[in-house]
Order: sequence, then structure tokens, then C-alpha cells
Amino acid sequence: SSTSNIRNFSIIAHIDHGKSTLADRILELTGLVGDRERREQYLDKMELERERGITIKAQTVRIPYTAKDGRKYVLNLIDTPGHVDFSYEVSRSLAACEGALLVVDATQGVQAQTLANVYLALEHDLEIIPVLNKIDLPSSDPDGVASEIEEIIGLDCSSAISVSAKTGLNVDAVLEAIVEKLPAPKGDPEAPLRALIFDSWYDSYRGVVVMFRILDGTIKKGDRILIHSTRRAFETTNLGVFSPEAKDVPELGPGDVGFMCANMKDLSDAPVGDTVTLMRNPTTTPFPGFKEIKPMVFCGLYPVEPAEYDPLKTALEKLQLNDAAFRFEPETSQALGFGFRAGFLGLLHMEIIQERLEREFGAKLIATAPSVAYKVTATDGTVLVIDNPSKLPEQQSIASLAEPFVRMEIHVPNEFVGAVLKLCEEKRGIQKDMRYLTSTRVIITYELPFAEIVYDFFDKLKSVTKGYASMDYEFIDFREADLVKLDMLINGDVVDALAVIVHRERAARYGRAVALKLKNSIPRQLYEVIVQAAIGTRVIARERNAPLRKNVTAKCYGGDITRKRKLLEKQKEGKKRMKKMGSVEIPQEAFLAALKAD
Ligand code: GTP
Repeated sequence: SSTSNIRNFSIIAHIDHGKSTLADRILELTGLVGDRERREQYLDKMELERERGITIKAQTVRIPYTAKDGRKYVLNLIDTPGHVDFSYEVSRSLAACEGALLVVDATQGVQAQTLANVYLALEHDLEIIPVLNKIDLPSSDPDGVASEIEEIIGLDCSSAISVSAKTGLNVDAVLEAIVEKLPAPKGDPEAPLRALIFDSWYDSYRGVVVMFRILDGTIKKGDRILIHSTRRAFETTNLGVFSPEAKDVPELGPGDVGFMCANMKDLSDAPVGDTVTLMRNPTTTPFPGFKEIKPMVFCGLYPVEPAEYDPLKTALEKLQLNDAAFRFEPETSQALGFGFRAGFLGLLHMEIIQERLEREFGAKLIATAPSVAYKVTATDGTVLVIDNPSKLPEQQSIASLAEPFVRMEIHVPNEFVGAVLKLCEEKRGIQKDMRYLTSTRVIITYELPFAEIVYDFFDKLKSVTKGYASMDYEFIDFREADLVKLDMLINGDVVDALAVIVHRERAARYGRAVALKLKNSIPRQLYEVIVQAAIGTRVIARERNAPLRKNVTAKCYGGDITRKRKLLEKQKEGKKRMKKMGSVEIPQEAFLAALKAD
């Protein structure tokens, strides 16, 4: 059939096991990015995108390949995002493939995200080719790692390929295996169009660009298409492929992977996971499992200077154009002024966005402590989800509070098992499983409150395992817990931006720590400053800054005119960043210090 020479595949790997390096070698070996200059240009472009956090965005390319027996093939390499925050997008990319290269670093072996990705690939019935990478390194143990893969994953490794993506050694064998081992796509060109959107982004010239995989049917330029979930219709203005540059094509059929432009203005016009079909003959079997991507982690984003509010808003809007998972809305804080509440898929996603705001848009930001979403059941039975602790209703109107839980798998050498168990117990975890992968490596499974992870889990995990642990997690459900809202007060006024929801048992420790940090970062003033942590009306921690006596200031700076001027200037500087809480002037740094977890 016409699809017999097509192979659609992804590369899946744990972070740093060499996915991008292998992809680069494949492009080079197939001559897709030929001479050195063009190659560097292309890789530079990818580098820039990666810098911008677009490992989130697929770099999908069509690769013409002539096999050793002379047959010509079209290989579509469908890139997948490389982090747990984006597992839904990974699963959509895999759904567009028939096979996957499973890259495992032969000096490291199977890691948490190796397994997580393999499970996703197996869910989609993909044919998997194991590739053992980094065999140029003396510490690599491809045979050992091959038997590990067989043992843990149950994947036949008799034909695993040992490569060095760095030097290019054996990468040609990977290409041959792709055409020999991976099945060609199937599909009926005459059937109603059924195409899966696995990526989409906003381009300032073309509007929304949709990357999709055609399962059945044929789409031509000019066709009126229908987006299944929204029932909205559009006219196809461009069809094309990336090889590696964008190239228009007149039509795409079963097995093809390509892009489409259709005058769409907003990413919500083309959600990842949705089905594209034709107006005149729509499919009756759209893809199942299309789901809205919901943010899991939230924080407030405030400009340091009030005048930067509008530029910040513009920057957030620009970022959102290209990132359907990122949400924001205006929010006002008494302490921090006008800003935004932003929602992210996970911590990495949050860090990427914050960094892009600072680096690309020059925004100076105050970010409040990250929070998860809580489910509040009121005494009258209504259920409310809140993503900002300061929005929690009065205690007496709350019947129960539930927090999100995740299931986490942690891979760790056995000498660190004790330390990991201790950490998970401290974080209110519930142990579910523990099994030996090999005689020296263990998989520990826990259910953990997501809030504890957002707080400082990753740093702690890294430090107690000297960096040897790897982990993967997924959201499971909301569970009731004994949670309380902890308020911070300055001279009796609640500082809304510092409110947190914590487990009752942690409240006292957390409250004391923040109160102390806050006290230490508020300069002594002419009046007394009292910092308190409170649950409702019950104060659980208290710190006091005694007032300065007036003549102390006078004495210190009497006489010396230049010093006085300096002091005045300093005061002016400081003034700008002061926030008035009742009668007290609080430098913004104080809020920042209080927000820093440690
Ligand atoms: P993420 O994009 O973070 O998911 O990583 P990745 O899996 O794409 O890994 P990447 O290709 O960026 O490689 C990670 C590191 O390993 C880089 O420093 C590479 O240069 C190095 N590396 C990749 N392949 C090899 C190899 O075959 N040998 C050696 N020695 N180093 C390699």
C-alpha cells in the first residue's frame, strides 16, 4: 500500500540519557541537515527553542531515508516533551506513532522516567526498539543494562542496539532497525478524515499551527475541517511538513504526519488530543481520551514596580499564546498590590515560565509561594476548588478540606532506601510498594500529598540520595486531611500574600519559621512591630521588633553632610518598595524573605 514506506516513531528516554543527541545524529546521518553550516544553524534553532523551554513543544521532522537494500522510506520522528509535568502531551505524541526507540544510558540503567515512558508506549501498543547509549564511556555496561531492561520491563533485548549517540557509533543500525522492526502505518484513504492533534503552537505570521497525524482519510488544502470537541469549522489554508524547514504539500493521507494552518487565532481552537475531521464527511469515531489539561500548581506573580503591571500582563499573554497549559488571571493582594494568579502543570513548568518572564521579557517579579488546589466542602454542601489560600472561606463554614495526592515511584540504589523512606514518612506519605529491581536497586512507591512535594520534596530527595534517586509521579485523587489556613499578621493586619494552607501538625513549625524570617527582614522602626502566625484567631507564633528611640538615628548620622545625603537617597530608594501595612512600612524584601522556603 501507499503507507508501506512510512515509519512513525518517537524517542523515549529518562532525562539526560541522550534523546536529543540521538535525534541530532539521525538528522545528520540521513543528510537531512547536510553541510556543517546548515546543520549548526538548525541545531542552533533547536537550541534556542530548548532554551526557551520548548522541549515542551514537539520538534517533529520528516526524514527521507534510503535503506541499505536501496528502498526509500519516509521516517517521521515525532518528538516528545521530556518531563513528567507534560505526560499528557507525551502520551498524545506516542499515540501518533507505531514505534519508539527506548534510549537507556548504559552507564545508568533503567530510571524512573524510563519506566514511566515505556508504560505509556506500551499502552499505545507501540513496537519498542531498545537502544543502549553512551557505550563510548568506559563505565558503560550495555549487557548488564540489557538484562535489567528484560528483567524490569519484560522487553526482549536480544536485538537491542548499543550506540554512542555522541560519536555516531552504530546509529546507522538504529535507522535500519526502524525500517525493519517498526510496522508501517495502516489506514484507509477513502474513509472519513480522522487526524490526531498531538501538538499546536502560535506563530505570529500564520496564527495557530497544528501538528497532526492522519489515521484515516485524506485532507487537502482548502478543505473545510471540523474540530471535534468544539464543533468549530475552519478552512485549511496551508498543509505541510517539516523536513526540517516547513514545506507546503497539497494533501496528506493515512500515515502522514504534518502541519496545518486554518486561520485559527487561539490555541483552544486546536487542543492537543483532539480530532480533526472534514465538514462534509465527519468521522463517527473521534479519538477517545481527549482531556482538558488542568494546572496543578499555582502562584501569585506580582510586578516589583506597579508601573510594570501592564508590560507583565502583555508578557503573560504572549506566553499563553504558545502554552495552552499555562493559565493566569488578575489578582489583587493587599501586601503586593495588583498582580496575577498563575496556574502551571507542575513545578518545572512554573520555573520555566518564571524564567522566561525574567529572561525574555525582562520582567522583575515577586512570586508567592506555590500552592496546590484544594477542594473545600462547605457546611451547606457546596463544593469549591480554591487555588489561593487567602480565598479559603471562614473556618466555621467549612465542613471538610481535601488536598491532591500523587502516586510517586522513586528509583534508588539500596543504600539510600532508609533515607528515602524517612523523607516520605516526614512528608505524610503512605508506602504502597517496595521492590528490588536488581540486587542493588530499588523501586519505592508512595502516595504523597502533592502540597508536600511542591514545598521542598525534590531538593530534599536529591540531597538525601546524593543525586542518585530518580522519580516519576502522577496525580491520583483528592483526599480529606486535617488542613488549616495559617495567616501571618503584622501589627494585627493579615498579610494576604503570605497565607498558606498546611497540615495542622506542621502549622506551628511553619508559622514560627516564617514569623522569624519576617521579623528579621523588617527594619526596626520608631514603633513596635509585632509579627504573628495565627490559625483563625488563635496565635501560634509571635515575634517582636522593639521600637527604635528617635535620638539614636539623629546621633548616628549627625553632622556629615554627604552621609546624610546618601541616607536620604537610600530612603527614597527604599520608599518605592515599601508597602504600607496599617501603620507599618514593610520593605518588599521582607515578603520575599518570608516566601523563601528552606
Ligand atoms: P533532555 O533533553 O534533558 O531530556 O536530555 P536528553 O535525553 O535529550 O539528553 P541529551 O541528548 O541532551 O544528552 C544528555 C547529555 O549526555 C549531554 O551532555 C550529551 O552530550 C551526553 N551524551 C549523549 N549521548 C552520549 C553518548 O553517546 N556518549 C557520551 N559520552 N555522552 C553522551
